[in-house]
Amino acid sequence: MPGKSKKRAVRSFLQVANWKMNKTIREAHEFIKQFMQVHTSSNQAIWFAVPFTDIRSVHDIVQGNFEVGAQNMNDATSGAYTGEIAAQMLLEAGATFVIVGHSERRKYFHEDDAFINRKVLRALESSLKPILCIGETYDEREDKATEAVLEKQLSEGLKGVSSEQIGTCIIAYEPVWAIGTGKTATPEIVEETHASIRNILEKLYDAEVAKEVCLLYGGSVSAVSAQVLSKTPGVDGFLIGTASLDPESFAKIIALSENDLAI
Ligand code: 13P
Repeated sequence: MPGKSKKRAVRSFLQVANWKMNKTIREAHEFIKQFMQVHTSSNQAIWFAVPFTDIRSVHDIVQGNFEVGAQNMNDATSGAYTGEIAAQMLLEAGATFVIVGHSERRKYFHEDDAFINRKVLRALESSLKPILCIGETYDEREDKATEAVLEKQLSEGLKGVSSEQIGTCIIAYEPVWAIGTGKTATPEIVEETHASIRNILEKLYDAEVAKEVCLLYGGSVSAVSAQVLSKTPGVDGFLIGTASLDPESFAKIIALSENDLAI
């Protein structure tokens, strides 16, 4: 399904903080206040994926300097789905993006690729940029099944996403064994896996389109690993959990990743 979308000469590195189930409104305010004082970079895009209850207030205090988004949503537009949240609710609260298919959602809430795909389509239809998370478990990597796992997650998660829409999607490669474990994937693993993700995208779309998709790495990114990983070919940004909870460590990761990506 080839198609052309606009070509960008340079894109800035994208840093996404995923706070997971952390920070009350008060704590979020405190974080942003401190982060503004220590953060110096001007040429990177900085996004905060915050708990639902923080979206509106963080959106208001960052005053357009950073984007704010959600960590999950439902694919339905409204209705009797107790405890769920719809795209339009996120948009009106100030969200511009949403994380979809995080491995913690897949594992603890049994989300499958079909459900994740419906969320991706709903996010796109609602003008929320989806960050689709994919990644293999330790056993799958040991079994040399990584590529097959990623291919399934991508082909099923992106079913029905057109060549024009894929440029709005962000793919986050998060090997499950590297999340919250302190075991960052090596630059070699990240480079090789990101290349194979682009190959899969080329098969699903075409080379031109695949080249434009923003590909994040996530999994124990820290001030120690950020510099090398940010320069690793094929890495367009990070999705950061633990190290994004502290304003100084998040600012340090950003400072260490200072660069522009030629594409
Ligand atoms: P950690 O950075 O804590 O490993 O979490 C990564 C992650 O899951 C981001 O979505």
